[in-house]
Amino acid sequence: MTVTIVGAQLGDEGKGGIVDVLAERADIVVRYQGGDNAGHTVVVGGDTYKLSLVPSGVIRGTVGVIGNGCVVNPETLFDELDTLRDRGLDPELYISGRAHVIMPYHRVLDRAEESLKADDDIAVGTTGRGIGPTYEDKMARRGIRIAELLYPDELRTRLEYVVDYKQRLADALYDGTDQPSAFDVDQLFETYAGYGDRLREEEMVIDAGPYLARRAAAGDQLLYEGAQGTTLDIDHGNYPYTTSSNPTAGYAATGSGVGPGVIADGEIIGVIKAYLSRVGEGPLPTELEGDLADEIRDRGGEYGTVTGRPRRIGWLDLPMLRDATRASGFTGLALNHLDVLAGLDEVQIAVAYELDGEERMTVPSTTQAWAACEPVYRTFDGWPDADWDSVAETGIEVLPDAALAYATFIASELDVPLAAVGVGPDRAQTLVLDHPFDD
Ligand code: GDP
Ligand code: IMO
Ligand code: MG
Repeated sequence: MTVTIVGAQLGDEGKGGIVDVLAERADIVVRYQGGDNAGHTVVVGGDTYKLSLVPSGVIRGTVGVIGNGCVVNPETLFDELDTLRDRGLDPELYISGRAHVIMPYHRVLDRAEESLKADDDIAVGTTGRGIGPTYEDKMARRGIRIAELLYPDELRTRLEYVVDYKQRLADALYDGTDQPSAFDVDQLFETYAGYGDRLREEEMVIDAGPYLARRAAAGDQLLYEGAQGTTLDIDHGNYPYTTSSNPTAGYAATGSGVGPGVIADGEIIGVIKAYLSRVGEGPLPTELEGDLADEIRDRGGEYGTVTGRPRRIGWLDLPMLRDATRASGFTGLALNHLDVLAGLDEVQIAVAYELDGEERMTVPSTTQAWAACEPVYRTFDGWPDADWDSVAETGIEVLPDAALAYATFIASELDVPLAAVGVGPDRAQTLVLDHPFDD
C-alpha cells in the first residue's frame, strides 16, 4: 500500500519528521515534486539531518526515489549524498530519468526576475533555487532531463539551443548577467556531463514509474513525501505567491508514474503545524506581529531551513485547512508543534473569515480577496509547558487537557482523524496514534 504525506499549509509543517517516523514500516520513500527549495528536518536522538532532495526516509535506511515530477540540482544532490555518507549512512537512492535538471541559468533568472518584480513590490520571495524557471522550461519543452546528462551528444545539442535562448532573454530583460559562466555552453557541458558520469557510475538513474509499480505489486510499502504545502500549490494555493509545482496528493501519481488509484487506495496524511508560518511574500490573514510573534518564532525556531529567513507567524487558519483537506482528500492528520504553543494564556484559531459582510468557510480564489478577509476567531485556553519526552513516552492521555481539546477540535472540524501528534522535533517526540501503514 501507499501512504502520502502532504503539507496542509505553507510548508515547514514538519513533513520530514513525520516521514521519518512512518518510514519505520516503509520500504521505499518517494519525492514527487519540488526540488531543493524544500528543507526537511529529521532529528534522531539529538542528531539533526537537513535534507532538500534526498527523501527523508533514507535516514531509516529505506530506499529513496526522486520522481519525474521533481526538479533536481545535481550539485545539491551529490552534496547531500556525500554529507550523509560522511555521517556513516549509505543511502540507496534512485532518480527518475524524466526528472528535470536545474541549471545555473535557472537560478540566475529566478533571482533576476525577483529583483525586477521587487521594483513593483510584487516579488514572490522565492528561495532563489531556480525552481520556477526550471518548471517553466519543462512546460515549454526546452528543459533538460536527468537521463539526457548520460548522453553527451544529446546534452550538447540541447544546451546549444537553450543557452542561447536564455542568454538572449537575460540580455533583453535584465541587461545581461553578472554570472557569464551560467550561460557558457562549454563550461555547462563539461560540468553536467560530469554529473551524468557520476549518475551512471552510481547506477542511480531508473525509469521510476515501472520500478515503483513493480515494487508496489510485490507488496512493498511506498511512502510518498510531499514538499512545500497546499497553500503554495501552483493551482490550489495563493497564486502568484506559490511555488511552481503541485504538492497536493493528486500529483503523487503524476509525479512518480503510478496510477491515481494506487495513491487513492492508500492513506493520505495532511501535516499541520499548530500555528502558521510563512517564509515568502503574500497575504496571511491571521498574521501575528510584535512580542507574541517573536515568542512563537523563537520557541519554534522559525527560521528558514533553506534560506535562514525569519518565518512570518500566524494563528491556525481553518479555512486554509478545509481547502487542503478537500484538495488532497486527507484520510488522517499529523498535528505538529503543540509544544511550541505551550505557556501562552490563550490560543486562537480562525474558524472562518468575514469578507464583504459575509461569512466564508474556505479561502477565496484570488489573492486580493484573501488579503481582504478578516478572520473570525475562536479562543482556546492555553496549556502549560510539560515534560514532552514523558508525554511522548506515555501517550496522548497525558497531553495537557487544553492541548488535547485544541487538537480534537481541529480533527472534528475537518472530520479527519488524528494519526499522529508532534510534541517536539525528535523522532521520539512524535506520538503515532493510528499508524497509516498496515503492520
Ligand atoms: P518540513 O519542511 O515540513 O519537513 O519542515 P522543516 O523541517 O522545514 O521545519 C519544521 C521544523 O520544526 C524542524 O526544525 C523540525 O525539526 C521541527 N519540528 C517538527 N515537528 C515538531 C514538533 O512537533 N515540535 C517542535 N518543537 N518542533 C518540531
Ligand atoms: P518545505 O518542503 C516553505 C516558498 C518560498 C516562496 C515560494 C516560492 O521545506 O516545506 P520557490 O523557490 O519554490 O519558487 O519559492 O514558496 N517555499 C517554501 N516555503 N517551505 C518550503 O518547502 C518551501 N519551498 C518553497 O519561500 O514563498
Ligand atoms: Mg521545510
